Amino acid sequence: MTVTAVGRRVLEHVISSEQFGRELLDSLFARAADLQDVRDERLKGRIMATLFYEPSTRTRLSFESAMLRLGGSVLGTEAARTFSSAIKGETLEDTIRMVSTYADVIVLRHDEMGAAARAARVASVPVINAGDGPGEHPTQALLDLFTIERELGRVDGVRVALCGDLRFGRTARSLALLLSLYPDVRLVFVAPDVVQVGGDILARLDERGIRYTLASQLDDVVSQVDVVYQTRVQKERFTDPHEFEQARSAIRIDATVMRRLDPRAIVMHPLPRVDELATEVDSDPRAAYFRQAANGVAIRMALLELLLA
Ligand code: NCD
Repeated sequence: MTVTAVGRRVLEHVISSEQFGRELLDSLFARAADLQDVRDERLKGRIMATLFYEPSTRTRLSFESAMLRLGGSVLGTEAARTFSSAIKGETLEDTIRMVSTYADVIVLRHDEMGAAARAARVASVPVINAGDGPGEHPTQALLDLFTIERELGRVDGVRVALCGDLRFGRTARSLALLLSLYPDVRLVFVAPDVVQVGGDILARLDERGIRYTLASQLDDVVSQVDVVYQTRVQKERFTDPHEFEQARSAIRIDATVMRRLDPRAIVMHPLPRVDELATEVDSDPRAAYFRQAANGVAIRMALLELLLA
């Protein structure tokens, strides 16, 4: 599965959702389901470095858990901006060149869009983009799509409301790109104007003939979708505090919203949440976000196996 006819790997680096096609997604999801309960030594002797220039809980720990469950080892720095030589002025490129000689795969989170692609250009080992500023977060999108398929039994034809901060929220951007590979998918982007989805994503959807609409209120669409994918307003990325105030709490999911949601629909969120998703929703069986987070380990096991085995 990992090697093509000409002997090249299917994936050298994981930088963008755009690298994935249906065939690869199907095989990855099948592998993730198979590997979920595996605890063995198939990646023994392999080392994964996590280089995180931005905070993370789920992404870093689920990558580490995935590697450890397959018998590999992990090393890394969780506050690379202050605890690595970045603070002394070392460039990302120099850091990556060095870490390439210490590890067999690098998982990178960075605050600048395009950082993972820059890293991949100088790395001698696979680089996995664990979030590049407001750019992309492809492995989150993989686990999100895997969750939709598991929870609803299909992706074809699903109606998804992507909500919250669609301007700076990289998870929704990457997920929209993956969803566009499935027939008859319909997307609604629900956000105040100031954080509505970027033209670059809409242009891709247009190219692929995907039907979408834009909305500013969840009320208008909540009863008509199979998935509500809520996201946090990315406070740390606003340069204008007025814009943040306009975006803040504009769309909130609580018990009132849940009453209007279809009984078979689900609520997802990449987490962490702040006030855009009320804790009163947690006990509702349609709240899929903790199951979603758990799926991250299996998906990352499948990805590490694909890149390293
Ligand atoms: C997200 C991220 O870092 O982009 N979290 C995650 O990886 N699960 C979402 C966020 O920070 O709001």
